[in-house]
Amino acid sequence: MIIKYVKYLKSTERRKSQSIASLKLNTKYKLACQYKNNMQQMSDNNVQIFDTTLRDGEQVPGCKLNTDQKLIIAEQLEQLGVDVIEAGFPVSSPGDFKSVEEISKLVKNTIVCGLTRAVENDIKVAAEALKYAKHPRIHTGIGTSASHIKYKFNSNQDAILERAFEAVKFAKRFVEDVEFYAEDAGRTDNEFLARVCEMAIKAGATVLNIPDTTGYCLPSEYGAKIKYLKENVKGIEKAILSCHCHNDLGLATANSIEGVINGARQIECTINGIGERAGNTALEEVVMVLKQHPYLNLDTNIKTEHLYGISQLVSENMGIYTQPNKAIVGANAFAHSSGIHQDGVIKNRETYEIINPKDVGVTESAIVLTARSGRAALAYRAKNVGYELTKLQLDAVYANFLDFADVNKEINDTDIHQIIETSKVYQQIISA
Ligand code: KIV
Ligand code: ZN
Repeated sequence: MIIKYVKYLKSTERRKSQSIASLKLNTKYKLACQYKNNMQQMSDNNVQIFDTTLRDGEQVPGCKLNTDQKLIIAEQLEQLGVDVIEAGFPVSSPGDFKSVEEISKLVKNTIVCGLTRAVENDIKVAAEALKYAKHPRIHTGIGTSASHIKYKFNSNQDAILERAFEAVKFAKRFVEDVEFYAEDAGRTDNEFLARVCEMAIKAGATVLNIPDTTGYCLPSEYGAKIKYLKENVKGIEKAILSCHCHNDLGLATANSIEGVINGARQIECTINGIGERAGNTALEEVVMVLKQHPYLNLDTNIKTEHLYGISQLVSENMGIYTQPNKAIVGANAFAHSSGIHQDGVIKNRETYEIINPKDVGVTESAIVLTARSGRAALAYRAKNVGYELTKLQLDAVYANFLDFADVNKEINDTDIHQIIETSKVYQQIISA
């Protein structure tokens, strides 16, 4: 009896120490996995730039482009370094079909994407338009918010889950790379959105697009949505989460940035932020936010020195004027007009500029002369057109300048010559 009890004690001890050892091993294994995940996350710091200027941007009234114009822009987008060009919505018109087909032939390294609804014929037509693409992607999806399900589809959640699955599965027959969009995800309940995402992943989606279609979300809310999906969608490691934010409340850039901070790895955007209603996320803005905040440890493949050129190209071709105070690419983005700012910038550009204009393809900062400008700005601009003024000469010319500037909004180089030539000290200046 005693021997039996001792044996029992010994075996319990053995089991205990075995389970402690296996617990230690498990913990070690878990830590190793965690480390691996962290390392993956750390090296996975590339944010893909998905440009939809030619699709979401071009659908704006008055922005219509012909195929030749689209080809010119697509070529420049590839030069810029975008990862994906959404070239159009092929089933929408023969013209759009042709543009997607021609862009597919032209583009070499960039993914070319065509939009569809969760409709078999749309998907077939898109696959046909993309058949020459070296890297084709089909972008299919369906509305998932309560309002879309009720009013657009007169349907229910189960039927939407089924359609999401079937659409992705069908698209996978034609291409490997299938992106799924949950339209109006911004206003979709997170639990249901997670189920939709799981369905799309099960069917083989490589990218999950989470559009804030109506531009409704706050940055914290949109970031939390992405985090929720990262943490709650089964199989999420098989797909990339993508931000597609509209700008109805002026929050598109902030929302996209919150999205990538919380784990998304693709941003959908347009040049100059053009797009439906108040527009889409502006490509140049999100790219420069990530570049100017390197501690976020998020990079893009964009060659930022092309940003200004492509902004001009899109604006000219679409006939859409860019507001002068537009961030990064507006005419005033690197122009200084108040005397205090001009004095600072002339002494050191960084006093009032957080971006080197050359980094975005703008040759130099501008010192704009208005009645609010001071002597430092006038001396600087006068020097640029060939006059080195002494302090006394500057005082005299400045008085003349203020009279002139009070009646003329902005003083150009020709005006500077005239101001100096009509000043009392002109004779001294040229004889100096
Ligand atoms: O804004 C949106 O929801 C879209 C989808 C079609 C991707 O543009
Ligand atoms: Zn959109």
